[in-house]
Amino acid sequence: MQADYTTLSKTIAALTEGEDDPVALMATVTCEVHHADDRFDWTGFYRVVAPDLLKIGPYQGGHGCLVIPFSRGVCGAAARTRQVQLVADVDAFPGHIACASSTRSELVLPVFDGQGQVIGVFDIDSNQPDAFTQTDADALSEILKNTFQLVK
Ligand code: SME
Repeated sequence: MQADYTTLSKTIAALTEGEDDPVALMATVTCEVHHADDRFDWTGFYRVVAPDLLKIGPYQGGHGCLVIPFSRGVCGAAARTRQVQLVADVDAFPGHIACASSTRSELVLPVFDGQGQVIGVFDIDSNQPDAFTQTDADALSEILKNTFQLVK
């Protein structure tokens, strides 16, 4: 099963309407996205908790590393550069953090609040190599933009 992004976007919008609490939003997005697609083996957020520092937020899947500095890993790169990181082969990504040795590919998106500040990253890991496409990146970016626009 692959995500139907039109349906997913509508479901998340309905569930989160009027909500501005970031953790409530992250928990809801994580649950909906994780269960929408068989390629997604670990789905969750890391939150910016201090300058250049990410800490684990709501997630689904096996346990995630608790702390990631902006200088490390795919998540750190997304937070630091404010750019989506689509990694087809994690072994080819310098400084990749292997929380689970089964992970083969990743998609990590920066998460912005209503003012355009990076408040975290949304990380999806797959046990399949080259699991993610630009369509996934574009659709999930749009969902994140719509979902977190009320966050201050
Ligand atoms: N692989 C990520 C770390 C997070 S976990 O895999 C849950 C990275 O290199 O940023």
